[in-house]
Amino acid sequence: MAKDPDKLLSEVEEKLKFLSLLGVEFVTRESSVLSLEEIILNCQKCPLAQTRTHVVPGDGNLNAELMFIGEAPGRDEDMQGRPFVGRAGQLLTKIIHAMKFQRDEVYITNIVKCRPPSNRNPHGTEIASCKDYLLAQIELINPKVIVTLGKVAADLFIRSSLGMTALRGDFHNFDNIKVMPTFHPSYLIRNEGNKNLKKMVWEDMKKVMAFLGKK
Ligand code: URA
Repeated sequence: MAKDPDKLLSEVEEKLKFLSLLGVEFVTRESSVLSLEEIILNCQKCPLAQTRTHVVPGDGNLNAELMFIGEAPGRDEDMQGRPFVGRAGQLLTKIIHAMKFQRDEVYITNIVKCRPPSNRNPHGTEIASCKDYLLAQIELINPKVIVTLGKVAADLFIRSSLGMTALRGDFHNFDNIKVMPTFHPSYLIRNEGNKNLKKMVWEDMKKVMAFLGKK
């Protein structure tokens, strides 16, 4: 016989109260992030759903104090269903290690969760379709700092016509979260000869480390 829905709900509420009394609020956060991931994996909201191989919701620690947000999955990410696993990802991993974090201690995601064909920039309509997923991820993970990688990611948080060189270097506020915009690792790779770019990214990351008490 089916259970009375009201009774079921109050049983669930009781269980959640009991878990939170035990201090295990991460159980609910974890399951919420995983349910959200399930929804993202089945998304059909924009035309990128037709051309993707895998959806790339994001990866990492669901209790992370530091979150990195890139632009969109590339070819390697589309093949594997994980963010930043190609060349730009290798450089991002080096940056994370230099900041004295492991990759599995931070959370990594993108503005859009499916690969735009031929790695073109995501269209405004695609960004708009995907935006609520990112906002829900941020709300659930609740990091102390978000590092946006490149202009597409910065644009979602900082309304400005300034380019990256002028935008980077200072924290911005997004609710109670600090946002540090910096250059995208792919941009560093494309401009390998420009050592000044790497220096600027490292200056930005040192500010993030200082804010998070990393020495
Ligand atoms: N570039 C991005 O912006 N995101 C990835 O996941 C990989 C490359």
